[in-house]
This record gives sequence, C-alpha cells and structure tokens, in this order.
Amino acid sequence: MRFSPVVLLSLVARATATILENGQERLNPYPGQADEVSLDGSWKQYANDAGEISYKGRWDSGFTSWWSVPGLKFGFTGDKLAVSFGKHTSDNVLVAYRVGGLDWEFSNVTADSAYQFVKPESSALEDTEYKDEKTFEMRVTNWVQISSVSVAADASLVKVPEHNKTIEVIGDSLASGQYATYEGLASWGFNFAAGLGNVEYTITAYPGICLTDKRCYGGDARGMKYQWSRASDVGDRANAAFGDSPEAWNFTAHRAADLVIINLGTNDEREQNNISGDEFYRNYVEMVEEVHKAWPDAQIVLMSLWGTFAKSGSTWVQRPIYGSEVKQVHEHFKEEGYVHYFDTSGILQHNDISPGGHPTDVGHLKIASHLMQWTKIKFDWEFSATGPEVQHDTTYWNNQESYKRWVASRRSM
Ligand SMILES: *[C@@H]1O[C@H](CO)[C@@H](O)[C@H](O)[C@H]1NC(C)=O
Ligand SMILES: *[C@@H]1O[C@H](CO)[C@@H](O)[C@H](O)[C@H]1NC(C)=O
Ligand SMILES: *[C@@H]1O[C@H](CO)[C@@H](O)[C@H](O)[C@H]1NC(C)=O
Ligand SMILES: *[C@@H]1O[C@H](CO)[C@@H](O)[C@H](O)[C@H]1NC(C)=O
Repeated sequence: MRFSPVVLLSLVARATATILENGQERLNPYPGQADEVSLDGSWKQYANDAGEISYKGRWDSGFTSWWSVPGLKFGFTGDKLAVSFGKHTSDNVLVAYRVGGLDWEFSNVTADSAYQFVKPESSALEDTEYKDEKTFEMRVTNWVQISSVSVAADASLVKVPEHNKTIEVIGDSLASGQYATYEGLASWGFNFAAGLGNVEYTITAYPGICLTDKRCYGGDARGMKYQWSRASDVGDRANAAFGDSPEAWNFTAHRAADLVIINLGTNDEREQNNISGDEFYRNYVEMVEEVHKAWPDAQIVLMSLWGTFAKSGSTWVQRPIYGSEVKQVHEHFKEEGYVHYFDTSGILQHNDISPGGHPTDVGHLKIASHLMQWTKIKFDWEFSATGPEVQHDTTYWNNQESYKRWVASRRSM
C-alpha cells in the first residue's frame, strides 16, 4: 500500500511543512519548531554513545534510526538542551519531542546541524528548577542520525530507568501510520504501545513490506522474514546506504520483547505479488518460529488483517485478507501456548479507512484501544499512561450554541 496517488500528495505536504486535512490546510501543523544553534563554550556536549542516552527502537551502529518512530530518551538538568544531527539525517525530517509528560511538539530538522529543543524561556520549564532532573524524549517519524546531545556547561545528562516490559510491533504501512496525521506518531502501533504507558517499544514496521521475503514494491528490497533480523528497514534510503548487506540486528545486545504483535500480509495479498495462501501460510509459520527463536519467552500475537471495505448493495462489507491462513498459523502453534490470535473484525468500519487505503487517525485509535483492552484482559497488563499525551492533536470538540439550538428545534418538530 504505497504508490497510490496519495503518495505524491504526502511528499508535497512534507516538503512544505503542511498537513492537509481532507484537502484543507491544517493551521499550525508543527507546533514547536526548534531553532538551529551553534554550540559554544556555554554548552557541554555528550557524544552519541554516552551511556546516559537511551535509544528506543532500531538504530544502527552509526546511530542512524530506522523503521517506525525510533526515539531517544534521557534526563537532563539545567535550562537548555540541543541535539546535533549527523550527515545521514533526512532533509527536513519531522521529529516529535517533549519534556516529561507534556504534549508532543514538532520540528523539522536537517543534516549536519544542531537544534535547540529546550531554552531558558521554554514553557516546558515552568514549574521546574534549574537543578531538577527533567526527562527529554524524541521520536522520529522518519530518519535521523544523532551525533551528540548538549546541555548547559554546568548541567548534565542522566540515564532514565527503563520500563520493565517490552513490546515489539512487526508490521507494514498500517502499523507505521502511513498517511496518518503524524505518520508513526499517529499509528495504531504507537498508540497501542505508548498508550499502555509503562512499556518500552520498538515498531519494526515499514510501508509496502511483505511478510514473504520478496520485493513487493519498487523500493522495498526484501520481505520482513529476512529484514526483521536487520538493523535497517527496506526503504530506498537503507538500500542506498547498505545495498544487499545491511547490518544485522544484534538481538543479544538488546532486551528481549515480552509481547510481539504481528500485522503483516496486506502487501503480500496484492495481486501483482502473486503470493498464494499456501505460500503466505508457510512463510508466516517460519516468521513466527524465527521470532520465537530470538525471544523464547515472548508471547506472540497474530492480528487478523482487516483488509478492505467494499460497497455491496445498499451497505458496506468488510473483506478481510488471508482470513483462514492467519487462523491456520495460530492453529499450528496453538498447543505451544505462546501464539495468540487477535481478531480485528468489526473494529473498523468503511469510513475508518482513508481513500488511500489506510486507517484514518480515528481508525488507528480504535485498533489501538481495542488491542490495549485485550492485552489487559488476556495478559493482565495494566494501563499506566494516566494523563500524559499519547497521540497529538486529537482534541476535537463542538460547543457551538447554534448547533445546540438546531438540535433543540429539530427535536421540537
Ligand atoms: C520547517 O518547519 C517550519 C515551521 O513549521 C516551516 O516554516 C518550514 O517551511 C519548514 N521547512 C521546510 C523546508 O519544510
Ligand atoms: C521494575 O521492576 C522492579 C522490580 O519489580 C521495580 O523495583 C521497578 O520499580 C520497576 N521499574 C519500573 C520502571 O517500573
Ligand atoms: C552482540 O551483542 C553482544 C552483547 O552485547 C556482544 O557480546 C556480541 O559481541 C555482539 N555481536 C556482534 C556480532 O556484534
Ligand atoms: C504466480 O505464481 C505461480 C506459482 O508460483 C506461477 O506458476 C505463476 O506463473 C505466477 N504468475 C505470475 C503472473 O507471476
């Protein structure tokens, strides 16, 4: 699900820092634009490999981020903070960042430059003291390379303890939020994992990718069955950097996932990829075996693929994809106890899918909310994000008096 006509629209939108909402320009789409800064003696610089900096998601050995919503997190003291981006940073890439549990702010950044995300006058510092340890978090919708992090010369970075649980979402454009307002930051994958609150998460998802190891779209060189074991994704940028020998992901150097959610197959099913149900089933079984081999204690959840919605007669009908195959994979592993099936039927309706074939922001939230509740019931995980913003820009409301009167007058008719 990639090279639909909407792709062009989104590339144009990115280049001009515009978010289109049903064709209308969103006002102030990226609150929080950071200024470029040149680092002088008033700063203390920490190299990208400083132990105080936690990298979330997948980064390669050169500190370049890959896949969906990779991030950085650390504590800092003082009243200013800057991040320097290396040469492998995409042009004007959108990053989301925040202090503590405050709302996400958005900024575009570019290669070979430093941006100041916290200033002495930043509202994020209200109600804090200079010497207090504040937390800084950044998530990247696309790709950056970190070269250093800087704070005031007399301040310091502090390592933030990690949450005890770890989630891995393995998916395609659906899990990575393609065409959603803030891309990865608006995806069900992010809303689910960040929504639970007390978990570390990695979203190994990339638009267009098949589960089967096949070139499914122009730029996507390999399928997930192969690429999951690599640090980088399958996009043009990764291919240009690594060709056919991408760096291996070192599973032993990173924490094992406790819970793995797989949503793959929507691209495999496309006619031009010619992947039969049998072939998909066999590959899916092997994929699950591979995940189990990497993380023997992980619970693995197979999501049914919601597919498409088509008008039929006087209503709309959901057409799931590989419905029986995903169930068969679950059946295959049932006895072993670590593979589970999450049925998405009935969560989305036809208008939760955008014209480009991906969930709307609301669609993403519906998937995430149901999956959160299911995870709570099934695995006894708690909801611990009880306040801080997860998905940005979803406060829609209507308090127009004229609307109320209209309702009242209709009622009285
Ligand atoms: C970066 O973001 C700012 C603020 O939204 C915007 O004015 C500017 O055009 C953006 N730059 C590019 C090249 O997109
Ligand atoms: C992780 O678990 C340990 C032991 O149960 C607990 O002391 C610690 O507070 C937990 N850490 C977080 C961040 O929840
Ligand atoms: C993977 O990480 C482990 C643990 O940090 C380390 O001992 C090992 O050398 C690494 N393997 C490779 C191939 O880098
Ligand atoms: C689709 O796959 C089948 C079985 O592998 C093969 O026989 C057929 O030629 C393929 N069709 C196309 C159009 O590639």
